[in-house]
Amino acid sequence: MNKIFIFVILTIIKLTLSVNSDEGTFLYFAYGSNLLAKRLHINNPSAVFYSTAKLKDFRLDFNIDDDVWNGAVATIVEDPGEIVWGDLWSLHNSDLKHLDNQEMAEGWYFAKNVTVTTSNGTDILARTYELVDNPAKLPEGEIIPPGRRPSITYLKVIIAGAIESNLPPEYIEYLKNIPTNGKIGTRKIRNRLGYPFNTTTLEI
Ligand SMILES: *[C@@H]1O[C@H](CO)[C@@H](O)[C@H](O)[C@H]1NC(C)=O
Ligand SMILES: *[C@@H]1O[C@H](CO)[C@@H](O)[C@H](O)[C@H]1NC(C)=O
Ligand SMILES: *[C@@H]1O[C@H](CO)[C@@H](O)[C@H](O)[C@H]1NC(C)=O
Repeated sequence: MNKIFIFVILTIIKLTLSVNSDEGTFLYFAYGSNLLAKRLHINNPSAVFYSTAKLKDFRLDFNIDDDVWNGAVATIVEDPGEIVWGDLWSLHNSDLKHLDNQEMAEGWYFAKNVTVTTSNGTDILARTYELVDNPAKLPEGEIIPPGRRPSITYLKVIIAGAIESNLPPEYIEYLKNIPTNGKIGTRKIRNRLGYPFNTTTLEI
């Protein structure tokens, strides 16, 4: 009798905790350096890959000069007819503050909900981040100016993440053709990511 009573009490406590605490999960749409599991796991150890996904009517772009990566960082900009490919990650709610902190500490990004389409065609709501100071669309045929280019290290992480998650080959090709500013990230971030991200070329 006593054992059953204790079991019931423990179950009630467990259920209450799982409703009120950090035990739930949320979906995060990553399109930049967080495409790479190793990079995302630095600050968000609970992240588990859920699906590739596409965000319609947005384009991938870069802006701001980040001094860790040594170049412009990725953003999504509303742009009818364009598509941004990315990964949906499932994260424990306990990592929400870590992700927000990684993305929003400098005040560059804000969090928003977007509807993305997963690999099996399901539309789903996910959290993502967009630069407050989004860049203007370049005139047709004009290449991205040096001040708006990502560094070698940063672009390499994005490309490796896209390959790792099996994003469409033509999107990976498109990423490989984005011009860099020729710089590499700080020693600290390069050491943290290790080979092949600590080299000075885009080659993976
Ligand atoms: C996104 O939607 C969820 C669920 O409706 C909500 O709790 C959350 O505050 C929203 N986040 C943002 C950044 O709007
Ligand atoms: C695939 O679609 C079903 C609904 O048809 C959904 O429940 C499931 O989560 C989806 N899986 C992925 C990875 O999108
Ligand atoms: C990159 O890291 C690997 C180990 O992960 C190390 O062997 C190699 O020397 C490093 N290369 C550079 C250029 O720092």
